[in-house]
Amino acid sequence: MDIFLDTAKLDEIREVVKMGLISGVTTNPSLMMRAGRGDYKEVTREICYLVQNRISAEVVSTDSEGMLAEAKEIATWSPHVVVKIPTIAAGLEAMKMVSQEEVDLDRLCQGCPWFGKCDTDIDLARDLAASWGIRINATLVFSANQALFAATAGASFVSPFIGRLDDIGHDGMQVLADMVEIFENYGIEAQVIAASIRHPLHITQAALAGADIATVPYAVLMKALKHPLTDIGVERFLADWAKVKK
Ligand code: E4P
Repeated sequence: MDIFLDTAKLDEIREVVKMGLISGVTTNPSLMMRAGRGDYKEVTREICYLVQNRISAEVVSTDSEGMLAEAKEIATWSPHVVVKIPTIAAGLEAMKMVSQEEVDLDRLCQGCPWFGKCDTDIDLARDLAASWGIRINATLVFSANQALFAATAGASFVSPFIGRLDDIGHDGMQVLADMVEIFENYGIEAQVIAASIRHPLHITQAALAGADIATVPYAVLMKALKHPLTDIGVERFLADWAKVKK
């Protein structure tokens, strides 16, 4: 199971990238607010530069034409961008339209401040965008049916919100497990991203349930990494070594 970071905070992303832990990032308007950033394009481009992998940026329109226009624009920011679209009726309409669109290669990466420093040069960027098209992450998924519909409408990723389901007394992980099974039954290629992860056990449970990806907040990732026996073990090794070293 791949690990994404669920944040728009660049310092958190920089730190976790150094550990080689993540192969993507998910953002949303609330995470932008928490990062104190209103410049979605600039932040997304910097995250793409830092991670060089699947970076979700969300549309804010609520009608299908508006979502389509936003998706086409967002897709020009970087070939690594994945467009997040909410799983509502207008969102399904937009997914259907967006999945048939191609990235505007003439506008791809234009004016990017990371140009020249980025591992993805313009030729590679165009090749990647041409082969991937506009990838969609269906967000705000709360049922197996919504996941099935989003995948049918053309989403490459579906994001069940585990924690928010648990909050209202549902079994979020069971909903995720159901969609994994349905996708397997029918050979559906869309990947399941366990989202709204609240604690380390969610990561383990998502992996056991067969999620392709878990998108994890920084604080949860750090908790999951830490173990008191590891810390005690390091202390003991250092203490023992100090007694004998020459
Ligand atoms: C996923 O893509 C979302 O950004 C995120 O996981 C939402 O989680 P929350 O319930 O903590 O807001």
